[in-house]
Parts: sequence; structure tokens; C-alpha cells
Amino acid sequence: MPVITPTGKTLGATVSGVDLRQDLSRADFGTILRALGEHGVLCFPGQALEAADLRRFSTRFGDLQVLKNIPHHEPGMPEVTILSNVKVDGKLIGAPDAGQSWHTDMSYSTTIGFVNILSAFQVPMRDGRVLGGTEFTNTQAAAADLPKDMVDRLSGMTATHDIEYYWEYMRREKGSNRPPLTEEQKRQRPPVHHPVLLTHPITGRKVIYVNPGFTTRIDGLPERESADLLQHLLDHVMRDKYRYVHEWTVGDLLLWDHIGTWHFARPDYGPDEHRLMKRCQVMATKIFDPAFVRDVLPERAAALG
Ligand code: SIN
Repeated sequence: MPVITPTGKTLGATVSGVDLRQDLSRADFGTILRALGEHGVLCFPGQALEAADLRRFSTRFGDLQVLKNIPHHEPGMPEVTILSNVKVDGKLIGAPDAGQSWHTDMSYSTTIGFVNILSAFQVPMRDGRVLGGTEFTNTQAAAADLPKDMVDRLSGMTATHDIEYYWEYMRREKGSNRPPLTEEQKRQRPPVHHPVLLTHPITGRKVIYVNPGFTTRIDGLPERESADLLQHLLDHVMRDKYRYVHEWTVGDLLLWDHIGTWHFARPDYGPDEHRLMKRCQVMATKIFDPAFVRDVLPERAAALG
């Protein structure tokens, strides 16, 4: 049975008492989902899963994204991306700069991201200090603190999300050597629109669903007003009270909720300080499906009608 120990901070809990290489019962899976909705970031220490197990566990949450623009993946498993600065024979074995700017994965897709699942195999250290932590901010807590007049203003509003915005930012500002998106890649991923206040499918509470990585504007407002309102929301979510950092230990499996958080991978380590993660990104193909939710979270059935 999963034992959930919250960090006591705005986000984060440790989960023990389960073996993620085994199929979880429906009840145990439901317990993990509820903890995810409540705490946003779940750490399973000593459970870094190798690629096949990672893929099987991740599939429980929804369909996995295959990233055509990141060529680094486990052989024969394009759903399992390698994130790493390790080189073999002078060649990088993984994507070295993934996530090194605040964002929420896949908000640029019609089907948004649900969870990210990372297994830690190498963690950089310097002078006894852990480097390469992953920072988070809590968009659910930030929404709960919005004043009522702001909630009324935002209700019914949508925002535009665009993958190219983030891609070009990484190239321009972060020195990323990723090539520009091709015309074909841009055609496959046109800008999309999502509600600014999205209802979280696990908790039923609102989240602020804009993020610095992919959100380009608030729809239907003049340019200046859109920019000011977007900046106001981004600054609000970035307040210290909503921030949390996960300092990695080799063997951690970290599961986080994209809908209720943003994240940022700290680039505070050098090329010879090695970091190696294996990652599955899970899309929200199941979590908004009423049949799935009724099955695993029966207490949400009434809210689904
Ligand atoms: C990501 O954005 O998926 C990567 C996060 C990390 O490597 O810490």
C-alpha cells in the first residue's frame, strides 16, 4: 500500500510502500493519483526504473508523447527520452538542456501534458552539494489566492500557447544549439488555445494555466492589455510562497503533475559534472475521460455528472 509523506511545503511528498516494477492495484493507483493532485510532485526514492518498466508504469497515466524533435531516446523506445550531458566517443547520449527554462510541458498541444516521470541515474555533485535540481511552482495554490474580481475577469478567457516561442527563446537566450523548428514541425504544432483558469481533473480546483515557456498572449485583448495581464499572472505564480525544489538523489523516480505546476531544470552544473535522467512524458489522454476518472477516483463521479 502506498504511504504518502508530504514535505509540508507548498508541493512535494515522498511515496514508499510500493514496488513500481509491479502492476499497481486500482486502489493503489487511485491513492497515488490523489496524492499527485494534492502535492503536485511525488518522489519514489530508490525506484529509478529502467526504460521498459518506466514506459509500462507511465502508460498507466495516459498515452506517451514521442518527441520527434529530440533524437535522444532509449534504443527501440522513442517514448523514453534520455536527458543528459554525458558524452560517449565525443557524442552526447541525451538532450543536454531540456527544461532549462520555466514551462509546463505540452501546453502547446491540443491534448495537453498530464505528468512527467523521470528516473535519476546520475546526479551532479560539487563539494558535497547536489546540483541539477528541478524547481517547481504551484499553479493550483496560486489560483486559490486570486482575488474574486480577478477570478471573475479570467473566467471564460483563453490564452494562446506556441511551441516555437519556447524553442526560439532557448536558442536565442540560453545558447541552445537545437536547430530551428522546420516548416513541417511548425505545421504539425500550430499555436493552440486553452482556458486561463483550468479545472484540475483530480482535485476539481482551478489552476492558472498559463506559463512563461509557451504562453504568448491572452486571447481577445488588445496587445498591451494582454501583455500586462499575462505578466501579472506569471509574476503571481512565481512568488516564493508557491516555489519548491527537488534536490535529486540517484535512484529517485519523480512523478509530477503538469496541470498544477510549472517546472525548471537548474543548469548549475558543468559539462564534466554528469547528470543522466530517463523520462516519459504522459499526455492528458485519460485524465479528462469521465470513464477513467470514475474508475480510479470514484469520489469524483458526482462532479462529472
Ligand atoms: C523536463 O523539463 O522535462 C526536464 C526536467 C529535469 O531534467 O529536471
